[in-house]
Amino acid sequence: MGNITYDMKYDKNEIVSMLNARGADEEALMQRALATKLEHLDNNVHLRGLIEYSSVCSKNCLYCGLRSGNGHAERYTMTDAEVLDCARQAMELHYGSVAIQCGERSDKAFTDKIAYLVREIKRLSDGQLGITLSCGEQTEEVYRQWFEAGAHRYLLRIEASNESLYYKIHPNDDRHSFAKRLACIDNLMKIGYQTGTGTMIGLPFQTVEDMADDLLFFQRKGVAMVGMGPFIPHPETPLWQYRDIIPSVDERLAMTMRMIAVLRLMMPEINMVSATANQTLHPQGRSRAIKAGANVLMPNLSPTTYRRDYQIYPDKQCVDETADRCASCLELQMRAIGHNILYDAWGDSKAFLKNQSKSR
Ligand code: 5AD
Ligand code: SF4
Ligand code: FES
Repeated sequence: MGNITYDMKYDKNEIVSMLNARGADEEALMQRALATKLEHLDNNVHLRGLIEYSSVCSKNCLYCGLRSGNGHAERYTMTDAEVLDCARQAMELHYGSVAIQCGERSDKAFTDKIAYLVREIKRLSDGQLGITLSCGEQTEEVYRQWFEAGAHRYLLRIEASNESLYYKIHPNDDRHSFAKRLACIDNLMKIGYQTGTGTMIGLPFQTVEDMADDLLFFQRKGVAMVGMGPFIPHPETPLWQYRDIIPSVDERLAMTMRMIAVLRLMMPEINMVSATANQTLHPQGRSRAIKAGANVLMPNLSPTTYRRDYQIYPDKQCVDETADRCASCLELQMRAIGHNILYDAWGDSKAFLKNQSKSR
């Protein structure tokens, strides 16, 4: 599948200067990004009901609370019935799509189970629910197996597109390979998934040049979706030691908004998610990202009993809320900023659909 090309070509210097915008310039950037979104897309916000399937993870990323080295994390895996109940709830709440997210595992019992759950969700919804997977790095065969089972979107963040930064936030061993991560993203695109990637913002050692390169990386790859969110230090992880040298909470949030806004100018038709981490840093964090150019939200569908244990970062929001409370909360929040939640739709990436029709 050919890469998507865009008219809006900015060079790295222009991107850096937009990321450095403050005051009136920053305000103008936000307004331009919102206008660009409304012009190329619309004011619709797409939902993916989030199913946090399992907190078991075989990896050891230096930023994440689910890392295998964290002996204090509670590990759970939802039963099949619980997963299917989440999917039923998504139907009842008129969410057109669900996303299954979990720690990474590559054993056959796990990969077959995901394929089974995808098929069952398709069956119970009569093909109506869209399914996104976010289950880490897998072989090309496994990605194909899951695609054939009915998953059509996949999220795999590159986390940091600068290889040397990548190895500052991951152990440098064969289980955490930058080259493998890149190859996985390429495989997903080749198989035909609507592929999403993304990064964290405000990582230790990350520079504004790195962030500009992240945006250029997304554009070069021609991905269909991007999810970027602020880094939130977790006390049970190695990167916690850098909590005092990273940018402040306000700055991480503001940089996230500028990253979203600049990317909307660069890639006007992609789907961009407003990360839940925004809401942890600020009560209006999620809405701000929508106003800065994002167009997707991922309300949690996981049973309340598990929400607290899926602790990628601390102070996660909505851990005591039920799915229908989150649904009405989001409806109000989006209406307040002049946006409209689109129910009962897959909400595919316009960039992806256009590219697909071109390559036929
Ligand atoms: N802060 C913010 N985001 C995090 N992620 C993992 N740990 C953290 C953290 N401490 C993000 C990663 C991963 C996604 C599931 O969650 O980008 O891809
Ligand atoms: Fe596991 Fe993903 Fe967390 Fe890395 S970011 S430790 S792969 S859950
Ligand atoms: Fe969960 Fe607001 S989205 S309570």
